[in-house]
Amino acid sequence: MNIAIASDHMGLELKNYLQDTLTQLGHSIVNCGTDSIDRCHYPVFAERAAKLVTSGACDRAVLICGTGIGMSIAAAKVPGIRAVVGYDVYSAQMARKHNDTNVLCLGARTMGIDSAVAVLKTWLTTPYEGGRHDIRLRMITDLESGKSVQAD
Ligand code: RB5
Repeated sequence: MNIAIASDHMGLELKNYLQDTLTQLGHSIVNCGTDSIDRCHYPVFAERAAKLVTSGACDRAVLICGTGIGMSIAAAKVPGIRAVVGYDVYSAQMARKHNDTNVLCLGARTMGIDSAVAVLKTWLTTPYEGGRHDIRLRMITDLESGKSVQAD
C-alpha cells in the first residue's frame, strides 16, 4: 500500500520507528513530517496526510501524537476520512471490519512500541466486512455533507 505517515513533535520518535517497520513490510511511505523535535501543531500534519488519502495519492494514513486523540479529531474533519485511535489490537481489528477506517492514530505516550506495531499490523491486514455496515458508513458520509441521517 501507499501509506502517508505524520506526527507532531511528541510522536516523532515513534513515527521514525514505524516508518522503518512499514518499509520493511513492503509498503511505500510518504512522510508528511514533522521531522523536528521542536514543538509544533498536530492539525497541520494531520491535514497533510489525510488529504493524501482523500485525493487518492495514498491508500491509508498513520498519524502519531502524544495520545492519538488530537490527530484523530483533526483528521476526521477532512471529508472522506474515517479516523480511529487504535489503542489495542481488538479495537484496530474492529475499526477495519466494521468502520472501514482509512486513518490510524497512535499515542506515543500511551502505548509502547511493541503494542503500536501489533496494532498497526492488525489494522493494515484486517479487511472491511461490508454488508450491514455499508449503510452506516453512508450515514456518516451524509453527516459530512450536512444532511440529517435518516433512520430506516
Ligand atoms: C502535544 O502537547 C499534545 O497535545 C499532542 O501530542 C497530542 O497528544 C494531542 O492530542
